[in-house]
Amino acid sequence: MKTVSDQEVTAPDAPAEGHVNKVARRRVLAVCLIASLAGLMCGLDIGVISGVLKPFGTQFHVSTGLLEWVVGGMLVGATIGALTGGTLCNHLGRKYTLTIAAFLFAVGAFGSAASWSVASMIACRVLVGLGMGLSDFTTPQYLSEIARKEQRGAMVSTYQLLKTIGIFLAFFSNSWLSPSGAWRTMLIVEAIPAVLFLGAFLFLPQSPRWLVMRGHWEHAFEVMTNLRDTSSSAQRELEAIDEQLQTKQEGWKLLRRNSNFRRSVGLGMLLQIMQQFAGINIIMYYAPRILEAAHFDLTAQMWCTALIGLVNVLMTFVAIGYSDRWGRKPILYMGYASMALSMAILAVILYVGPSSLALQLSALALIIVFVGGFAMSAGPLMWVICSEIQPNAGRNLGISISTGTNMLSNLFIGTTFLTMLEELGSSNTFWVFASFNALAIILIYLFVPETKDVSLETIEKRLMSGVKLRQLGK
Ligand code: BGC
Repeated sequence: MKTVSDQEVTAPDAPAEGHVNKVARRRVLAVCLIASLAGLMCGLDIGVISGVLKPFGTQFHVSTGLLEWVVGGMLVGATIGALTGGTLCNHLGRKYTLTIAAFLFAVGAFGSAASWSVASMIACRVLVGLGMGLSDFTTPQYLSEIARKEQRGAMVSTYQLLKTIGIFLAFFSNSWLSPSGAWRTMLIVEAIPAVLFLGAFLFLPQSPRWLVMRGHWEHAFEVMTNLRDTSSSAQRELEAIDEQLQTKQEGWKLLRRNSNFRRSVGLGMLLQIMQQFAGINIIMYYAPRILEAAHFDLTAQMWCTALIGLVNVLMTFVAIGYSDRWGRKPILYMGYASMALSMAILAVILYVGPSSLALQLSALALIIVFVGGFAMSAGPLMWVICSEIQPNAGRNLGISISTGTNMLSNLFIGTTFLTMLEELGSSNTFWVFASFNALAIILIYLFVPETKDVSLETIEKRLMSGVKLRQLGK
């Protein structure tokens, strides 16, 4: 193994072991926050579309089927981005992959604001989606490589938190702009931060792990020393990385010959399908439309959507604060039970017709309970568990496949919801989602492991020795 000279590590004025380097710690925080801004971009782009659909659809006389593709275009791009993220990350590094993502966000946002036809809007949304898929693959990885061990979980969850903040900000700006139907301005609001982030990402350091992978030891040491308390702890961490990197990523080969790896890949796919089939994105993309079905007027639709976005942000803190204390599974049961119940009662209200103010407000309260249930559970936790269950030698491929599955399921729901509403009616549509959430409770019981407080090594050992999926943790 190549290493930096001993002289650098044991310089006479090197700080003692146990020394807390406040500057380095602040630097880690700053780098992680800047990189997490990619989550904010994703959130802005998820959230903006719910405000754009109506005025854009009216101006260009867009059919329901095509409107679904204005939503779906982003998800096609996101699926491609998630599946190609691994290759770009390995070749260009995390920093430049993130910079490309920011560039795509910016071009896509300006392009869609300038759209002159449905086709041009869909094409620009594909570009935005590519940025989103790249970011969903790269940012959590980059954050976990920059953060100190004890902060890793929190830093990765910050990405999801910033996504929810982005969704909220977009809902909020949509609410201000919707009375004038200014859909182009709504999209410009997304474009400006994208340009700012593009500039900021250029100042991010390269990931030390990627630098070691590429054999740039001196540079890796320099970056790591800036981010850790002492140069000797930086050196030790780099050596541990180097040791881990000796496990070759076998990806597809491992998938072909190892049925245990196929089980963890299958579980990752199932988790992400369960996340998307909960129905969260029918609210994120179509909340005003659903509130319209509950007889809210346009202004109320938009402000209630902003309120829903705020609940999505606030309830994410429950997962961040309690998943390491209560465990993943109890929180998932609570979340899915509240999602199943709220969807079922909403279906009943839409069946009888929300004729009174009390029923209208109940419909809004139920949507809020649904979103809160998702944000405290499946929203962040499915990402967390997916990153915990893959064996070292197949981690990149395993996470790439589960992220791609998330995007594809998201695409499926996003491009069929309006048709479902038209064909089945709003009440039956919500019964379908209530059933998916009830089914998820059974699937969680049968297949999902409790990974709280269990090391990744233990999970891998149990997986590879054929232990049942739900017993991989405790
Ligand atoms: C999901 C997204 C969703 C977001 C809402 C994420 O965990 O993957 O599809 O839009 O949560 O906050």
